[in-house]
Amino acid sequence: MSVKIDNLLHETRRFPPTPEFAAQAVGTAQLYRDAAEDRLEFWADQARELVHWHKPFTKTLDWTNPPFAKWFEDGELNVAWNCLDRHVLAGNGDRVALHFEGEPGDSRDITYAELTAEVKRAANVLGRLGVNAGDRVAIYLPMIPEAVIAMLAVARIGAVHSVIFGGFSAESLRSRIDDANAVLVITADGGYRKGKASALKPAVDEALAGNNTTVRNVLVVKRTNGEVDWTERDLWWHDELASVDAEHEAVGFPAENPLFILYTSGTTGKPKGILHTSGGYLTQVAFTHKNVFDLHPETDVYWCTADVGWITGHSYVVYGPLANGATQVLFEGTPDTPHPGRWWEIVEKYKVSILYTAPTAIRTFMKLGRQIPQGFNLTSLRLLGSVGEPINPEAWMWYREVIGGNVAPVVDTWWQTETGAIMISALPGVTTTKPGSAQVPIPGIVIDVLDDEGNHVGRDNGGLLVVTEPWPSMLRGIWGDPERFKETYWEKFGSENPRYFAGDGARLDRDGEIWLLGRVDDVMNVSGHRLSTAEIESSLVAHPMTAEAAVVGAHDDTTGQAVVAFVIIKYSHLEESSHADLTAVLRAHVSQQIGAIARPRQIFIVSELPKTRSGKIIRRLLQDVAEGREIGDTTTLADTSVMTAIMSTLKQPP
Ligand code: WT7
Repeated sequence: MSVKIDNLLHETRRFPPTPEFAAQAVGTAQLYRDAAEDRLEFWADQARELVHWHKPFTKTLDWTNPPFAKWFEDGELNVAWNCLDRHVLAGNGDRVALHFEGEPGDSRDITYAELTAEVKRAANVLGRLGVNAGDRVAIYLPMIPEAVIAMLAVARIGAVHSVIFGGFSAESLRSRIDDANAVLVITADGGYRKGKASALKPAVDEALAGNNTTVRNVLVVKRTNGEVDWTERDLWWHDELASVDAEHEAVGFPAENPLFILYTSGTTGKPKGILHTSGGYLTQVAFTHKNVFDLHPETDVYWCTADVGWITGHSYVVYGPLANGATQVLFEGTPDTPHPGRWWEIVEKYKVSILYTAPTAIRTFMKLGRQIPQGFNLTSLRLLGSVGEPINPEAWMWYREVIGGNVAPVVDTWWQTETGAIMISALPGVTTTKPGSAQVPIPGIVIDVLDDEGNHVGRDNGGLLVVTEPWPSMLRGIWGDPERFKETYWEKFGSENPRYFAGDGARLDRDGEIWLLGRVDDVMNVSGHRLSTAEIESSLVAHPMTAEAAVVGAHDDTTGQAVVAFVIIKYSHLEESSHADLTAVLRAHVSQQIGAIARPRQIFIVSELPKTRSGKIIRRLLQDVAEGREIGDTTTLADTSVMTAIMSTLKQPP
């Protein structure tokens, strides 16, 4: 790691904003001055400017019972109304909200007026199905307009959505539905992926099998026309929407009304239901979407390539852009189907001006070669964003040169499911950008880098990334587990003065700017998606032939990290099958239990695992093996011969 950091810090290329860009930029240096003068008043101003309040708030922040924050507590708003009706009432009903591009090539433009009309009907359907404010609704859909409509309909009636990424398995779906006691599931017959229809409804049927569930109904969107099994609780989305009233009045809900739960991996086996509420969340996603992406809603075409199943999709496909009245592309497919230029074809077709994507995608395109994007007209692009993991300077430069034509600023945005919105990023009209650095907290956010004892590390030093003051879009808790919320995020530096520990390492450069260094806990980042080593280990040991398992995130040139597992197989199975067969079975097992993203890239079958005297697996040593490095310090091993044993099993032919 340290070698890589040194490389980063010797990165001296600098890109100041051009005078033309700076002159038209919506986010100016004044924002930093306003926030520095009075941070809370700054956020109150943003909340009043960017959000419509059914009932204005008089209090900005209540932090009397940390870490449980309340923002704009006595205000009332309707999040969906903010994203829809108000744009129509302002005369922008004919503006395209979504340029939907389906994977098979079908496309559909949906205006703000049309989107509002659909959401009103969907909200009436939810009402008819007995969904009340505060109830949880699970959404398991592909990237189609109905995913956005469903989320906004749930928000409109003050209920709480829990979106589960369509790539997750029936088991993952089941545990999330159960944890939140969802009353309704919204799904589709299927979606299109890599040139094929891929079914979704069977996973819902499997998740709800046995009937001991709180789910009363399943609403099914018809997307692929695939055959589906049907039960009494199932209803077709199109039938239901057609048979309800077209009008629906959006009422205000308290600012702290829960908006959604989104599950993310932590250091233990059980995913955490991260809870976000309404007023503060909407304020910060709208603020960052406007200023970090320099949004000019009348002229820009914005495209964020994330799936709505992740936080990036929640904040920067649904709530931020729609609150700001943006026109955006919504794309169902994958970057390489039916051809590797598919994304660039979309940029050309819709004249996309702002693109927000992940380093893993950029590195994949780098490998394919610049001739592919160069086959399309990308001159409409004027701003590029990156998110999900540290972006290496080479990928950053390629993004700027090849995709951005050497002129579009690149903003590297650091944030998390828990932070709800962007926390660290350049402002493109203000900041001189540095390839590989997320750089500075956005106005109104206070970040520090501390050592283990909670001391500032200062410039030119590395440590732990910490948010020292509460922020509007911060998570309000872990669903059903306030203790875990406190312990996981707020007690690292003692509980007297709670500060938010993000789980990331960071370094301050000579200018005091921030370079992210990756997770410091047992969380991996594969293609910008968070996976827990413990969760995959518990899936592996749940298989009857596994005795023990350890999982590490190993460096991968494309995906950032890759899942590598070390498994001890029970003796009887070792005699029956080849290593290749055993590892194939286990890879499929993890895929089926958690989802394809969690499937290990490699599984090593070993006879022992390196452990400390107290029995804790020393993943660092396994990481050395997985990354093909010389083994590091083994003095804390209970039995120092273990690593020799592991190395010798790996050298043997399977
Ligand atoms: C973790 C959060 C926020 C949306 C996508 C991921 C890593 C995220 C960056 C960045 C370096 C980054 C961190 C963070 N991360 N963005 N720009 N530079 N690292 O959300 O699944 O909640 O994961 O992603 O390690 O803790 P998430």
